[in-house]
Amino acid sequence: MNSTIETILKRNSVRSYDARPIEAEVKDEILKATLRAPTAGNLMLYSIIEVNDQQKKNTLAKTCDSQPFIAKAPWVLLFLADYQRWHDYFLACDVEKFCARSGLSMRVPAEGYLMLACCDALIAAQTAVIAAESLGVGSCYIGDIMENYEEHQALFDLPRYTFPICMLCLGYPDAKAAGRKQTPRFDRKFIVFQDSYKNLTAGDFDEMFRAETAARFQGRSDIEGAVNVGQQTYRRKFAADFAVEMNRSVRTIMQNWTRG
Ligand SMILES: Cc1cc2nc3c(=O)[nH]c(=O)nc-3n(C[C@H](O)[C@H](O)[C@H](O)COP(=O)(O)O)c2cc1C
Repeated sequence: MNSTIETILKRNSVRSYDARPIEAEVKDEILKATLRAPTAGNLMLYSIIEVNDQQKKNTLAKTCDSQPFIAKAPWVLLFLADYQRWHDYFLACDVEKFCARSGLSMRVPAEGYLMLACCDALIAAQTAVIAAESLGVGSCYIGDIMENYEEHQALFDLPRYTFPICMLCLGYPDAKAAGRKQTPRFDRKFIVFQDSYKNLTAGDFDEMFRAETAARFQGRSDIEGAVNVGQQTYRRKFAADFAVEMNRSVRTIMQNWTRG
């Protein structure tokens, strides 16, 4: 096994950090690797905001579904899907006049470019995760940055054609994080299909969730009325308050991008 695969296989999300700051040279290497990530059309449809201000980190620890470890992370990177830079450049290049001359109407980026920009930002973020891991720096995604759009927009002066798609907390792992067991994954046969999609059967689900049911459910549930892992997970994730807020917030951002 080569060292790249080893790095990927040993990675865990890290949520508690050593007091040691990340050295400037290490940050520089991680960012250098990040900016080499593949990007749709080589457009770099993303921006990264380094959150250094402790007050802003404190706010994020509350607005991202109350996760106090965000405030303690030595390095916080906010990844934005970003079409604004190109939009501003197009305006600077008189693309409007060009369109008028050519009988075209100048278009807003709309759903397709929003998705491409999200792809770009996420691929850059994951490149940062792997680069960091290879240098001994742990990381954890914060998906809850998609919530509370209005607060985050004001906190970071986000223009219309940006979308805070994910955030990374980074730092050297403390002893607790370093000793954590890896999280399990579903068996490959439930995830990787050959040539066409495979709908899973009741038997497949039994097998897929057997270990988790034994480890997590054990006939009792911390969620009232839930009698299996599906009901627990639905209530804990998909029907949770954070998901309701995330959907509201994302809808607002998408409406911003797509209104004419
Ligand atoms: C898009 C995305 C959003 C996530 N958001 C959060 C989050 O808000 N808070 C958190 O503690 N972990 C978050 N995580 C980390 C996952 O919980 C973690 O990757 C998963 O439990 C598997 O654990 P592992 O990364 O240690 O293998 C997120 C991961 C991804 C990919």
